[in-house]
Amino acid sequence: MVSIAVNKGRENVAMLGIGAYRPTRIVSNAEVCEVLDSTPEWIYERTGIHNRRWISGDETLRTMAAAAGERAIANSGIDRSLIGALVLASSSWLKLTPHGAPTIAHDMGMNGIPAFDLTSGCGGFGYGLGVAADMIRAGSADYILVIGAETMTVGLDPTDRGTAMIFGDGAGAVVVGPSDENGISPTVWGSDGENAEAIAQNVDFLAYMDKAQALQGADPDAEPVGRMSLRMEGPRVFRWAAVTLPRALSSALEMSGVAKEDIEVFVPHQANARINELMRKNLGLADDIPMANDIENTGNTSAASIPLAIEEMLVSGRAKGGQLALLLGFGAGLSYAGQVVRLPPVPLEPSF
Ligand code: UT7
Repeated sequence: MVSIAVNKGRENVAMLGIGAYRPTRIVSNAEVCEVLDSTPEWIYERTGIHNRRWISGDETLRTMAAAAGERAIANSGIDRSLIGALVLASSSWLKLTPHGAPTIAHDMGMNGIPAFDLTSGCGGFGYGLGVAADMIRAGSADYILVIGAETMTVGLDPTDRGTAMIFGDGAGAVVVGPSDENGISPTVWGSDGENAEAIAQNVDFLAYMDKAQALQGADPDAEPVGRMSLRMEGPRVFRWAAVTLPRALSSALEMSGVAKEDIEVFVPHQANARINELMRKNLGLADDIPMANDIENTGNTSAASIPLAIEEMLVSGRAKGGQLALLLGFGAGLSYAGQVVRLPPVPLEPSF
């Protein structure tokens, strides 16, 4: 029988470089409360956020993704001609067709490489990192650029008390490639479609188009077409997180073979500082372990939050390249993905 060839991959993979892009416009709680029925104190107490960054001027998801990707490549020291695939983790690229990754690869001078989008809400970066690591282990590529990029504000209703104060824009990227020692554990991931409506667009594309068409046809009974926006049942997500995420973190440790006492840095998704503090305590990580708190001045940037948070810790000196870190992303779809990793080197080209 004719046999089909099998790829030969590399067993040990790591994040070789990290890059980020933060929008220039800083939006304080006070500014959010000019429109939202809330107070700066309530927002900080319940979420841990003081400021977030929102795109302005020429900034778009496309420009931010390319800028973060450029910095990740420069900081990895890898020649871009070696990048064998681009994975864009995002839930706010505004067209289903064409998807974003090929355009961004082209913008970055890498036209022609395999490039695809991965939509898994705020867990997107963890999914992208897991897929990239496994692609390299399987021999599908040697070096892969994983970008988490979001413009959450495009679909944000500034008057919605469940979301308006939380979300921000930004992009973070890593180059994943072969390494002498393994730097990325197996991924622990999952989803909960039963509760998926807890974080959802207020209306799907078909319903939106039907409404618009009815209005165009001057249907007197047609409801006005509001702007499509994101809704979140925060307390429901909080309860789900309290049950699901401690288990995911324990599994990530178990599958990595790394004892929790050896974890040097904790980088959970930047959704809510209170959730993160609860996870740290429940898992029994030390009180003084360096824990990402990028949410305070960046807000929740969904699939961009973990690489942005890692970059902030490396640039500020709160974490060092090569340290053992526990990552966990979670959000829409009620999906999650986590790994134990060795942090990439401190970026020579930081985002701030
Ligand atoms: O990134 C994706 C993953 N997402 C998450 O992990 C989000 C998880 N959930 C959360 O972060 C929190 O649930 C929120 C920050 C969204 C909300 O905080 P909360 O502590 O769960 O507030 P709540 O909805 O339970 O409301 C508590 C109180 C209520 O007032 P009463 O009934 O106690 O008088 C609300 O009416 O706070 C009120 N409230 C607000 N007050 C000022 C709710 N939203 C606001 C607001 N500003 N924006």
